[in-house]
Amino acid sequence: MRIEPAPSFHGHLRLPGDKSISHRAALFGALAEGTTRARNYSSAADCESTLHCLRALGVTAHREGSLVTIEGRGPEAWTPPHDPLDAGNSGTTLRLLSGALAGRPFRTVLTGDESLRRRPVERVAAPLRAMGATAITTDGHPPLTIEGGGLRGLTWEMPIASAQVKTAVLLAGLQAEGTTTVREPAPSREHTERMLPLFGVEVERDGLAATVRGGARLRGAEIAVPGDASSAAFLVVAALVLPDSEVRLDGVLLSPTRTAFLEVLRAMGGRVETRLETTDPEPVGSIVAASSTLHGTTVDPALVASLIDEVPALAVAACRAQGTFTLTGARELRVKESDRIAAITEGLGRLGARVRELPDGIAVEGGARLQGAAVRSRGDHRIAMALAVAALAAEGPTEIEGAECVDVSFPEFFGLLEEGAGRG
Ligand code: S3P
Repeated sequence: MRIEPAPSFHGHLRLPGDKSISHRAALFGALAEGTTRARNYSSAADCESTLHCLRALGVTAHREGSLVTIEGRGPEAWTPPHDPLDAGNSGTTLRLLSGALAGRPFRTVLTGDESLRRRPVERVAAPLRAMGATAITTDGHPPLTIEGGGLRGLTWEMPIASAQVKTAVLLAGLQAEGTTTVREPAPSREHTERMLPLFGVEVERDGLAATVRGGARLRGAEIAVPGDASSAAFLVVAALVLPDSEVRLDGVLLSPTRTAFLEVLRAMGGRVETRLETTDPEPVGSIVAASSTLHGTTVDPALVASLIDEVPALAVAACRAQGTFTLTGARELRVKESDRIAAITEGLGRLGARVRELPDGIAVEGGARLQGAAVRSRGDHRIAMALAVAALAAEGPTEIEGAECVDVSFPEFFGLLEEGAGRG
């Protein structure tokens, strides 16, 4: 993919549905009895992976454009798949499904592409084993074999904040004897806690703990999926770092556990406004971002779990800011779709930015002139998108190797970038 510099960036749009919420809508619908309809379901390949795996488990799932309909018949109607379930590139698909499958009395093998097979799954296997399921990893990685049933509730203290692990344990807990509590060290996205009640299931919340009761039955629900907050980050940063630019995104998910990146951008001097339209079940509204004179900042490590997917986009803003930007407490970035600390440091470095890799984060000395170059995505959608935004602000063209991976979360991305880039 070749990206030419852009003099400015403009856009006024509604984004495809949020990936995290779409995965949950499909999976909860498959566990429920009755029909679930998810409107504005994500166009991401990852969310298609979830539908693919559910169908392989005997679930009826239809898709007509962005409307997904699941005909739920409860978890008892799930059938053993003939082959290993292929979650593609999607860690969320694999980890969330593991939790749901821990309650099913048959053997399933969960696997995925090369990147997913390098990612850690012991963090999800350990609590499921403690609940009584068989969970066998391959040296801590997928393929992951789950054989479930006969689960006991438990209290699980999570060593790292992870919405995927939290959700997996809660979904197992719904099929366990007694109550199940998960406690996190820091708040991670809370879509599961907010969405389960829409499916008729109570979730008790107490600070950083969430509790469900075993034996709860889900019933089908109507879900309107808000625009993807993580996709929004790339367009917001494009508007902030280019001159005479403005983007307006309507109907975006604005949960605080997803929009901490906006706080950081504001702390950097970014002109970003949000307007809340609804708060139930999730905060949703518009974001308006315009060209800004940015300066560096030190990101509070306590915020990191709430902006973990937006670090590549923030790194681009940091390159265009004056002064030093430091982000630490993000060791998790090393085990995402790629080692994102290494990947973004390398990519932005090739474009001429002064970026330094830290063991658990990055430090950027802003203000360097960016120069188009050959860069690589390392097969990671968020790295490809961040480098593309940086390339708009560079002098001369940039070639991104492996840019097609953006389909994993945001297939419309390059089209929107082209449309929005004011090249006249
Ligand atoms: C997600 C949780 C996060 C995030 C991922 C989506 C989710 O992962 O990075 O993109 O939908 O629950 P972790 O749970 O590993 O932090």
